[in-house]
Amino acid sequence: MSGMASPLLEVQDLTVRFRGLVAVDHVNFTVEPGTVHGLIGPNGAGKTTCFNLVSGLIPPSGGTVRLAGASLDGLPSWKRTRAGLSRTFQNIRMFQEMTVRENVMTGMHARLAASIPEILARFGRFRPEERQAKARADELLAFVGLTDAADRRAGDLPYGDQRRLEIARALASGPKLLLLDEPAAGMNPTETQALVGLLNRLKQDGLTLLLVEHDMHFVMSLCDRITVLNFGRKIAEGSPREVREDPAVIEAYLGAKVAEKLKGSEA
Ligand SMILES: Nc1ncnc2c1ncn2[C@@H]1O[C@H](COP(=O)(O)OP(=O)(O)O)[C@@H](O)[C@H]1O
Ligand SMILES: [Mg+2]
Repeated sequence: MSGMASPLLEVQDLTVRFRGLVAVDHVNFTVEPGTVHGLIGPNGAGKTTCFNLVSGLIPPSGGTVRLAGASLDGLPSWKRTRAGLSRTFQNIRMFQEMTVRENVMTGMHARLAASIPEILARFGRFRPEERQAKARADELLAFVGLTDAADRRAGDLPYGDQRRLEIARALASGPKLLLLDEPAAGMNPTETQALVGLLNRLKQDGLTLLLVEHDMHFVMSLCDRITVLNFGRKIAEGSPREVREDPAVIEAYLGAKVAEKLKGSEA
């Protein structure tokens, strides 16, 4: 229909079974461009598995994922990255022995090459390309507040800094959609507050975010829309206010006390 923006991400009937367990059970949701969309629910609800399916890390048992109208089904992760999808991991994944800047540079070349040895070989061969990549990496490090850490060994960074490095690495591929799996986990309140500011700036720049997070104040203050999972199934969806007032969500996840405390915490 004319005048209606089509969704950036469409997840349709997405399902995965691990032996007996249906970890993601016919899940449907769409993410509109330029929004922050939350995916919440108790531990084991299937949030990370959803991310793994959408990012192509594991194959689904059924269902379809579309990005900007194009099917991603059957594509390996790196092709999904090239199509505009990037992610961070609940359990931080980075090259501990490489510097902070080098880690960001590996994210940049997901578009061009499938493997790290290829990436490194490329840098060796094309000095000008390397210089450009360094400059871009430094921009991203400045954006996440890690300029002073650029030459440090990534594994030596404090936990909160590693989380922000992961975001810089994920941004390096120039995504349209960024999936963040518990980005505030392990952060102190000051770091969490700074992260809200950072993610709001990304949103203002037009990036679309899909966010898994347990810090409900964080979720409520950032998200335009929220999908709630429980035992692999979608149990609710709506605005932050609709979701926190939903009896099924209070019962399965929030609890009455938290729901009460969250009143008025929406953006
Ligand atoms: N590779 C796997 N093999 C078997 N079971 C898995 C695998 N990955 C996740 N699970 C199970 O799927 C369920 C959903 O897990 P997960 O997506 O990590 O939940 P969440 O991120 O919401 O806490 C859990 O019961 C988990 O043990
Ligand atoms: Mg998880």
